[in-house]
Amino acid sequence: MELKVNLGPRSYPIVLDSGIAGGLSSRLKKMFPKSKFGLVTNTTIRNLYQKQIEKWKKELGLTIHVMPDGERYKTIATWSRIFDTLLKAKFERSGVIIALGGGVVGDVAGFAAATMLRGVAYVQVPTTLLAMVDSSIGGKTGVDHACGKNLIGAFHQPSLVCIDTAFLDTLTEREFLAGCAELFKYAFIGGRDMFDFVSVNKGVLIKGRSQVLLEGMRRSIEIKAGIVGLDERETGGKRMLLNFGHTFAHALEKYFSFKKLLHGEALWWGMACACALGKILKTIPASDTAAYDTLLRAMPRPKLPSIPSDCDLYSAMFFDKKVSGGKINFVVPAKPGTSVVKSGVPGETVKNVLTKVLGKSE
Ligand code: NAD
Ligand code: GLY
Repeated sequence: MELKVNLGPRSYPIVLDSGIAGGLSSRLKKMFPKSKFGLVTNTTIRNLYQKQIEKWKKELGLTIHVMPDGERYKTIATWSRIFDTLLKAKFERSGVIIALGGGVVGDVAGFAAATMLRGVAYVQVPTTLLAMVDSSIGGKTGVDHACGKNLIGAFHQPSLVCIDTAFLDTLTEREFLAGCAELFKYAFIGGRDMFDFVSVNKGVLIKGRSQVLLEGMRRSIEIKAGIVGLDERETGGKRMLLNFGHTFAHALEKYFSFKKLLHGEALWWGMACACALGKILKTIPASDTAAYDTLLRAMPRPKLPSIPSDCDLYSAMFFDKKVSGGKINFVVPAKPGTSVVKSGVPGETVKNVLTKVLGKSE
């Protein structure tokens, strides 16, 4: 099936199906008949999908850059090495970068595309559930900084997102569940229909590939594409909702040095904290608090490496991109399927939430 991000001249298709990666070369040759192609991936995906990559290499004459695997390599150093590989191969402005991988590869390869020769085209071929339903869509590209997540980056929309669900077959259960957290996120922000869909199907969604999962992915992608179409650069208040749970999650990822907790796992905890905050601030109607708890509990609770310090986490939150005028903007749940932004929440309230939610984590 084909969906679309509507952004005028920067609009692009999102194709979603099983087994479509094999036909990518012919589509790309039609879209970019005179271009050189580069492919960025990581060691794990290169090893798993060597045959497919070799086939693309023959068909497209690819230059390939293989980065190490892991969030801790989502850095300026990795970004710079992509330039070394592609510029030595005489990459030109008409060149196209293919990002084959999860959110880490997609973010750093997208940032290389945004900045190489002042901007070249790129194509997202996401291979994790998380990247399929979220990070490959919307043009947020970037790398982490020692001060925090995604603090260096650019908005740069891809020309195509090619989602082949067959890639999900090689994902570990842990990575799959981390992606489910990002899919469940849309139940908190994507409207009553999505809330009901995820609530009814939560048990099947977390089991792996199925028609129900495909439908959940389609709905998630539609919601994300719709929000990006309305608020591409997060200036109109809508796109900020996509960061539901992320203020807490990014602080947790930083606390654990981008190593021990997956992004989707940190997000699960972030969503739990956002729900706790919503209860305290009374943005969630009292009659709906149980429904939110049930939704979160449908996913296995990710194990935290240790109980984090609430003061350290709170300090880390001030490096979030949603801080404005020195105040943190929290996205908190409201009526089922909707969330609102709250600013100026007292520090003590936030720390109480952290202690209450994360203090019970072991
Ligand atoms: P990831 O890219 O680190 O991938 C997770 C793991 O799965 C890695 O070890 C990877 O090698 C492996 N893997 C990938 N595809 C596989 C496959 N098909 N089979 C087996 N193993 C596979 O992590 P992620 O969860 O995909 O993405 C998280 C990143 O995405 C974070 O850096 C986060 O900040 C970013 N993100 C960006 C946006 C955005 O809008 N740009 C949105 C959400 C998240
Ligand atoms: N995942 C947040 C965004 O794309 O805006």
